[in-house]
Amino acid sequence: MKNKLRSYQTDIDAYLAQCFLEDAPQKELFESMRYSLLAGGKRLRGALCLAFCELCGGKASDAMEFAAAVEMVHCYSLIHDDLPSMDNDDFRRGKPTNHRVYGEAKAILAGDGLLTAAFHRLSMARLPAERIVKAVSTLAFCAGELGMVGGQILDMDAEQRPCTAQDVYDIQSRKTGALICAACLLGVIAAGGTKEQEQAADQYARSLGLAFQIRDDILDVVGDAEKLGKATGADDKKNTFVRIYGVARCEEMVSEETEKAIESLRSFDAPEFLIAVAREMEKRDH
Ligand code: IPE
Ligand code: IPE
Ligand code: MG
Ligand code: MG
Ligand code: MG
Repeated sequence: MKNKLRSYQTDIDAYLAQCFLEDAPQKELFESMRYSLLAGGKRLRGALCLAFCELCGGKASDAMEFAAAVEMVHCYSLIHDDLPSMDNDDFRRGKPTNHRVYGEAKAILAGDGLLTAAFHRLSMARLPAERIVKAVSTLAFCAGELGMVGGQILDMDAEQRPCTAQDVYDIQSRKTGALICAACLLGVIAAGGTKEQEQAADQYARSLGLAFQIRDDILDVVGDAEKLGKATGADDKKNTFVRIYGVARCEEMVSEETEKAIESLRSFDAPEFLIAVAREMEKRDH
């Protein structure tokens, strides 16, 4: 499983590396986009997209444009998430954040450029037009005001007031869960999968996304900044799962959601890789 994940990561990195090489007057914008996009990252979302495509009978290469697009949207969300007006973070993926290197205006534009380029990239997929349209619609919905962007504003608003467990769940399912859902669904769509396969992928992604964000909140408290490549203790003012439930209960919740994610894969013939991904993310330290 480690080998397969590494091979997906290598393929995604290689694909992303040949994007944004244009020689144009705005080359500093391209440089800033590439700085964050190629800084590493687990490529979890891209790998989920490729894996679901294979699981539904497609070739991983069929879904590469979709996987790259999801990673571009994810990277834009991180650049903007780190801005002084949002989480005000100085480190990401083991390097100074985009705005620390290029300044705030260029970091905002690098994010805008990546978001726009993601949809251009979807349109380049060598797949039937109906699949591309469905991918555009799914990614736009999951990334937009009802998905990731919606979750980010709820996350900011939640700093100003006490939150219930349901509030924190609503925040996470949008700010983190929605893009993980998009990644899995785009894999099924690339393969021309069935409605049932889409539903199973959606269920898997919801549980995995929840486990993933709870683990992110735990690592902010008990993690190692060096390994994480970003600061710890950054969520002091935030309403996180750890604030509501404490670390011990959160660890149990990560395990419960991981089991649910795995259970959602029961209708697939050979889901071993995606089972292993869920187990790997359950224990991750970065
Ligand atoms: C970080 O995502 C932001 C969250 C949604 C918690 P990742 O932990 O997947 O970040 P990279 O892509 O590996 O840097
Ligand atoms: C980020 O959540 C979610 C998005 C970028 C959409 P966090 O703010 O918890 O992510 P980190 O901890 O900065 O990676
Ligand atoms: Mg944030
Ligand atoms: Mg943040
Ligand atoms: Mg966090």
